[in-house]
Amino acid sequence: MTVTAPETVELTDLHPSRDDLLGDVLAGLSASPKRLPSKYFYDRRGSELFEEITRQPEYYLTRTELALIEDCAPRVAAAVGPRAHVVEYGSGSGRKTRLLLDALEDPVAYTPVEISRSALVGSVQRLDEEFGPVQMLPVLGDFTQRIPLPEPGREARRVLVFFPGSTLGNLTEAESVRLLKAMRETMGDKGAALIGIDLQKSPALIEAAYNDAAGVTAAFTLNLLVRLNRELGADFDLDGFRHRAVYVPEAGRIETFIDSLRAQTVTVQGRAFAFAAGEAMQVEYSHKYTDEGFAALAARAGLRVAQGWNDPRDWFGLRLLQPA
Ligand code: SAH
Ligand code: AVI
Repeated sequence: MTVTAPETVELTDLHPSRDDLLGDVLAGLSASPKRLPSKYFYDRRGSELFEEITRQPEYYLTRTELALIEDCAPRVAAAVGPRAHVVEYGSGSGRKTRLLLDALEDPVAYTPVEISRSALVGSVQRLDEEFGPVQMLPVLGDFTQRIPLPEPGREARRVLVFFPGSTLGNLTEAESVRLLKAMRETMGDKGAALIGIDLQKSPALIEAAYNDAAGVTAAFTLNLLVRLNRELGADFDLDGFRHRAVYVPEAGRIETFIDSLRAQTVTVQGRAFAFAAGEAMQVEYSHKYTDEGFAALAARAGLRVAQGWNDPRDWFGLRLLQPA
């Protein structure tokens, strides 16, 4: 089934091609150690599984951030002022967006930048129904690439970049600084960015969030192999691999791997890749932040933390960034 945007909404399609996926996968499987980029988790099934993860009791991130946004949305709205153009990276289902658009004064337009077509179209349909006067300007694309910003029909006073979920944490340090610099450019001198960050806490709590008892995160991780089998004609045997997520305190991050359970060979587009028994392929980082660490990262991109809010347990934070 193909999903389309509501007829009233124009979707800018910059979708990364199958060649990007193929090139990244061949490069990653040829690397030592092997790795695959986590942005490829999000096909239709991957987006569904992510939503299921957010409902798992161990995955504290989403429910903590939703409550935090609800709590501090009026303060964000006061800082941003009227007639903003909201640009959101990795918008997913748009559950958090609703809370933000609801609180802002007369937002002019909303530009979600999403790599998952099904997530993008579904969220824009729902938001368009709920927020009629806000112009929907969805972009199907990869936010690690250059994204031309659509021009709203009505003039906006400022751009507010919204990047919740701690999705920033899925990037390496160098990629994060590059993305924050792109945000700095997108927001211009008068704009701001509202970023959600998962904070460092007990390793046991963090590790449990990425190893839920129901096995949803494992299914999410291994769905990447299902996708490669379907879209690239690869022949990963799903019974020959397992999900493994470990918290590495020195790096302040969850590192997720797909481990090969035995010695085996996998073929992708006629190229054979040998896996040793127990060989680990790195597929995702989820960085956890300290206040100082995040402020230093933002500073490297020419941004400063203007305001910040944490939930009562200091598990998750929202930071409002402005040009330094
Ligand atoms: N913001 C939502 C969803 C987080 S899941 C929330 O906080 O709950 C991460 C989302 O980012 C997914 O919807 C995924 O499709 C999207 N995504 C991941 N990498 C991306 C990339 N490089 N470019 C665009 N979207 C990306
Ligand atoms: C989207 N991102 C912030 C999630 C995270 O927590 O790193 C993706 C995820 N991976 C496993 N569970 C959730």
